[in-house]
Amino acid sequence: MTGNTWHIIGGRPLRGRVRPSGSKNGALPTLAATLLLGGETVLHNVPRILDVETMLGLLRAFGLAVERRDDGSVRLVNRGLETHRAPLELVGRMRASHYLLGPVTARLGRAEIPLPGGCDIGQRPVDYILSGLEALGAESRIEEGRIRVRADRLRGARVVLDPVYRSPGATFNLLMAAALAEGATVIENASFEPDVVTFCELLSATGARIEGIGTSTLAVHGAAELRGVAHAINPDRLEAGTFFCAAGATRGEVMVEGMRRRDLGAVADKLAEAGLRLEETAEGMVAAALGRPRGVAVVTRPFPEFPTDLQPPMAAMLATADGNSQIHESIFDQRLQYADQLLKMGARIRLLDGRRAEIAGVPQLHGAEVEAYNIRDGAALVVAALGAEGESWVSGRRFVARGYEDLEGKLCALGADIRCEDLM
Ligand code: UD1
Repeated sequence: MTGNTWHIIGGRPLRGRVRPSGSKNGALPTLAATLLLGGETVLHNVPRILDVETMLGLLRAFGLAVERRDDGSVRLVNRGLETHRAPLELVGRMRASHYLLGPVTARLGRAEIPLPGGCDIGQRPVDYILSGLEALGAESRIEEGRIRVRADRLRGARVVLDPVYRSPGATFNLLMAAALAEGATVIENASFEPDVVTFCELLSATGARIEGIGTSTLAVHGAAELRGVAHAINPDRLEAGTFFCAAGATRGEVMVEGMRRRDLGAVADKLAEAGLRLEETAEGMVAAALGRPRGVAVVTRPFPEFPTDLQPPMAAMLATADGNSQIHESIFDQRLQYADQLLKMGARIRLLDGRRAEIAGVPQLHGAEVEAYNIRDGAALVVAALGAEGESWVSGRRFVARGYEDLEGKLCALGADIRCEDLM
């Protein structure tokens, strides 16, 4: 990838249509699931983002043949796994590496991965995942910075996840382990976000039987073996939400093709409460700013409530709202790090503690030199800079590229003035 800084000249309303990429958070577990499947799998609409490249590298390390095609699809052939160990260098790049635990244990009876890396947004333990795998009969240990899981045979069981978090990560992991386990597994307090729904549909097509898809209780009837299929990744609702926040921040109007209101959950409701006009058409979702947004209160919670990933871009939009906004981040304990950077652009944000902030909307932000340290903070700073008066330099593009495909290309097509500054 070239360049780590964007140069943005703000103040141009975004207008037009954009086609979202396949969901990052759907593509990563789906790719990991190909470790479970025999033969050939073809996945369509796989986003071209760094986390996907990392996952493809991990799959190659386990022995899969991986072919990236120009049409956005990936063909994967699994003729058996060659190792139960994941390489440190790749695992250190993203949290989603833990998705390997369930499928590799299910296939080989053991898995070993270094503790995963990823965005620095607070504590991100793996205890739900490990205790879930233990309920299915596995033993697990964390030692010398590695997670080791062992199970001669996984057996179906009842697993109750934390109802406060309804962890998507734990849900994906347990679905994969249960799909090859003997008998039925019931997962309670499972995530039912759109990525999980599409993932369940994929697993069902491979030979596992899943009941309760789209609800918080999933019953998985494991199969002795699972076969490869063709499957399309669902559109990225977090990318869509980011474009809508940018529409609000720039007082523009954006249509995200193929997006459905029900997949946005509380994001659509909150944008409407902030005064944007939301409309679902046969072609997608439109969000239009009718002037300055209004201040609102945002509390992050699992789907269908407001997603933690869109909290930073939403806060960036609310920085210029009419009135005060309150932000309460209930999922991660350090996800307000962008606040310092928005202050440099003239925002009035007061941190009440690590999880709560009060934003007093100002009429206009001004351009500044700002720095992002993770994917969603980067998206938030881009949103703020697009709406600000004057020039901004936003660094941390390499983090954003982990989760957003061609963000500057898509924004340029919507009329933004954004380009990569430091070509290397
Ligand atoms: C996934 C998403 C991330 C999103 C998050 C919450 C991917 C690649 N990432 O992250 O974008 O912000 O869901 O929607 O899909 N927890 C534990 N123990 C565990 C697992 C989780 O305490 O074993 C807690 C976490 O600390 C956090 C919450 O549960 O507070 C949600 O975490 P989790 O579902 O694991 O999120 P990720 O899979 O890391």
